[in-house]
Formats: sequence, C-alpha cells, structure tokens
Amino acid sequence: MNKAGSSGKPLHNSVPPIDDIPVAFRDTPEQKPQSRFSRGWLIAGLVGLGVTLVAGVGFALVETQSMASRQTAESTPSAPASESTQPQPTAGATSSVEEQESLLGHKRYAEAPAAELKPVAPDGSIKMRKAAAEAFLAMQAAAQAEGISLVPISGFRTIDDQQHLFFEVKAERAQVATKRAEVSAPPGYSEHHTGYALDIGDAAVPATNVNPEFENTEAFKWLSANAPRYSFELSFPKDNPQGVSYEPWHWRFVGDSDSLETFYKGQGAK
Ligand code: DAL
Ligand code: ZN
Repeated sequence: MNKAGSSGKPLHNSVPPIDDIPVAFRDTPEQKPQSRFSRGWLIAGLVGLGVTLVAGVGFALVETQSMASRQTAESTPSAPASESTQPQPTAGATSSVEEQESLLGHKRYAEAPAAELKPVAPDGSIKMRKAAAEAFLAMQAAAQAEGISLVPISGFRTIDDQQHLFFEVKAERAQVATKRAEVSAPPGYSEHHTGYALDIGDAAVPATNVNPEFENTEAFKWLSANAPRYSFELSFPKDNPQGVSYEPWHWRFVGDSDSLETFYKGQGAK
C-alpha cells in the first residue's frame, strides 16, 4: 500500500506507518503482566464485537425495509398514466424496427382495430379510421358544393383482403412478384391496412377508376388543389422513392399524430 500523499509526505493522520512504533515495543517476548493486559483487551474486544454484530443486524433489517418501500413507490405511479411526465406510447404506433421493415418497396403496417373504423360509403361497405373518415366526408361535401363528385372505391382492407389482391390476381395475370408489387402491396404491407388510405374515383368518369387516366379528371384536379386542407396527400406520386407505380387515385390521411407517425416516423428530414 502506498502510504505517501501526493506531496510525497506520509499520511500520518490515517494509519500510522509501522516505523512510528518505538523500537522497544517491537517484537517484545511475551511476559506475564503483558498477558493480563492482553486478556483484558481480549474481553473488551469480544464485548465490542458482540455490540457491533447486534448493531449490524439491526441496521441491515432497517435498510431492507427501507429498500422494499422505495421499490413499491417506484413501481406504483402516484398519478394516473395520463398525468405522468413520462412519454406514453401512442396507440397504433409501431416500433422503429417495424417502421423500417419493407418488402418489394412497400412498408409494413398493422391492421387498424375494427372498433376504430367508420363508414365513408352510404352502404357501409367502405370504412376508414374515424378521424380520416370525418375528414374525407367533409372534403367530399366541399367538392360536391363545387360540382365534383368524389367516390370512395376502397378504404380499409384486412391482411386477408390483400392476400387475395396480391397473390390471386398475380396468378391470374401471370405476373412475377416484383411486377405485381408495382401496383399492389403484399399482404401486411398495404397502406389500406392502416385505415388511413382511400382510393378515390370521379363519379362523372367511372372508366378512370383505379387507372392512371384518373389524373385527367376534374376530381383529381380538385383534389390536387384542395386535399391538403383536409390533411389528405397522394401516397404514390410519379417517381416516388418506393418505386411503386403512379397512383393518382390513392390518397392517405395524415391529419393526426397517429396517422403522421404511421407514415413518417423514423424518416429523416428532407
Ligand atoms: N395499391 C397500393 C400500393 C396497395 O396495394 O396498397
Ligand atoms: Zn389504394
């Protein structure tokens, strides 16, 4: 052990160095009086040890109880989760690993819960998430007021729906997977699973439904100018980075935190 301080002087105020004991008391042979003196110290030492043991056990018991009460306090929030200052997970939000998963240019999405869906077609056959449905219905009314009839064609789709659209249509058309993926997402990878995407047609020109010619309709022109007012945007514009074919009919809602995170979380600034 180094007994010198930073100045090189010995640290006398802690443990005295062995050289501080006078030479006369070093290695002194055992004598009777010294033996009595040692017995006295031995008894005192044993009493001291006993006191130390009793005090140590007592302290350990008190500390164990204190730790247990601290752990209970940490695992039991004193306020409701909504009042907590800690960030809470957003319903429907996916982990960063899932957000980065993609297949043939399509990103992976979770299916919207059925309870979150609301019809956007009079017969109830086409549904979107509530916030998206309300925004679409408002947009449809605004377009109608200007003589444009926006028709919902396809909204929320289950993974099973997409299974048919991708694999069965691919087989019917004898398409390879990469070709099919240019126009259809594999099951589990369609924006339609989220309940935020909607294929829109023009009631005046049904022949352009789900067709690049939809670009030339009055409905598309109206949407291009007005959809952002209702928080809708085109998912697959021309030359999109995902390599998906241009789909002027396919719009998605990005008007609340969940929809925004669904489509943009994990993406860097542009
Ligand atoms: N048509 C789009 C890419 C889809 O299937 O989700
Ligand atoms: Zn679509």
